[in-house]
Amino acid sequence: MNFKSDLDQLEIFSRVGKIADELGFETYVVGGYVRDLILKRPSKDIDFVCVGSGIVLAKAVADSFEQHVPLSVFKNFGTANIRLEDWEVEFVGARRESYSHDSRKPIVEDGTLQEDQERRDFTINAMAISVNSHNFGELIDPFDGLGDIKRKTIRTPTDPIITFSDDPLRMMRAIRFATQLKFDIEPDTFLAIVHDAHRIQIVSAERIIDELNKIILTEKPSYGFKLLFVSKLLQEIFPEMVELQGVDSVGDKSHKDNFYHTLQVLDNLSHVSDDLWLRWAAIMHDIAKPATKRFNEKVGWTFHGHEDKGSRMVPGIFRRMKLPMDDRMKYVQKLVRLHLRPISLVSEKVTESAVRRLLFDAGNDIEDLMKLCRADITSKNNNKVQRFLANFDHVEQKMKEVEENDQVRNFQPPVSGEEIMALFDLKPSKVVGELKEEIKEAILDGQIQNNKVEAMDLLYKLAASKGIKTN
Ligand code: CTP
Repeated sequence: MNFKSDLDQLEIFSRVGKIADELGFETYVVGGYVRDLILKRPSKDIDFVCVGSGIVLAKAVADSFEQHVPLSVFKNFGTANIRLEDWEVEFVGARRESYSHDSRKPIVEDGTLQEDQERRDFTINAMAISVNSHNFGELIDPFDGLGDIKRKTIRTPTDPIITFSDDPLRMMRAIRFATQLKFDIEPDTFLAIVHDAHRIQIVSAERIIDELNKIILTEKPSYGFKLLFVSKLLQEIFPEMVELQGVDSVGDKSHKDNFYHTLQVLDNLSHVSDDLWLRWAAIMHDIAKPATKRFNEKVGWTFHGHEDKGSRMVPGIFRRMKLPMDDRMKYVQKLVRLHLRPISLVSEKVTESAVRRLLFDAGNDIEDLMKLCRADITSKNNNKVQRFLANFDHVEQKMKEVEENDQVRNFQPPVSGEEIMALFDLKPSKVVGELKEEIKEAILDGQIQNNKVEAMDLLYKLAASKGIKTN
């Protein structure tokens, strides 16, 4: 094999098989790679399991190439990885796990292929393909994973209660795979999740959020959230979202179910954006509706200030869920805070200054904000939807015109604090900030244009009115 040419999967399988034959190890491709091969989902991570030492096999495979092959050995886990061009290849010895009654720590021992397959999470992840020469390419599928792929079913290979109790994260994985692959969860497997949902609490927040983010990044994340909700896992990991569910009525006045509305917004948005953080903004946009809900005899249900309160709830939720506490969180906060602004522009007569202020506040996130707002229209009345979307087109047109004139999206003060201090011989002080602020406000209100000449002109007038003398 020419190492320089693109390695294909078959070359890797045969080379590993040949070396495994020499070592006398039964060796198989196993787990996710087999599943994805059957499902025709491209993957570059291959897991080999051998009846013998995975580390010995990995070293022998790495040594078989003339060129240097990066090898990492994890002695404690009995695994080793090699990198072959863009392939990530892992080797491990077949093992079985048993759990003593008083401890959840697994006792891991060498085992047979069948024992290794039994301890895996789902039938579709428990298939193996032999690479030894005597049965090269044979599928070993003791739990009918292939049938479950055909039936589009997520099912545990053995008693689901035991599978989930061995690793409760698998409950999240079941829902993640169901959502990614558009599969159903087999009833007994699902009932075991309902039964054990509370045990997700023993899993680290980092592992949970990895799975949740994978659900959020699917084509139709609402499916995963509905499964999380019905199984009660959502209550354990994201109770604020569960709070959104339900409809209150007083007389003939009721409000929409904000949980299902949020899911609709998330799905709508997912049609137009793969960005995880924009999708998080959709999830969070109405998160404070339960906390701000009031009933008013005249107008019915109100949620005043839910955008501000929701924005303030974001850091606490991000911290608990081990989501990043950096600019990505601030971006989500910002979109939650601003999510009603374009809608209010639509219902009022669109004034230039309102558009200018929105451009200033949203900055470069304005397009994302508009995507969120369009996704937020979930009315069943198609005429209404079309009317709102047309209004948004109008607002966007207006934004374009205003931005061309005033460039407030990336607002830079036309006169700096240093310049103001030098002109009027001022020390850093409150009044310098006030002058800068008043110039900015005048630009946003459209009293002056965003340029130096008009800003300086106003600055002199403002200074005079405050009794400040020129240097
Ligand atoms: N596995 C398991 N229980 C877990 C995690 C993994 O039984 N909690 C097994 C499954 O057989 C799985 C394999 O280990 O197929 C590899 O796991 P991983 O790399 O996490 O997932 P993949 O199935 O490869 O899928 P993905 O890459 O989409 O996460």
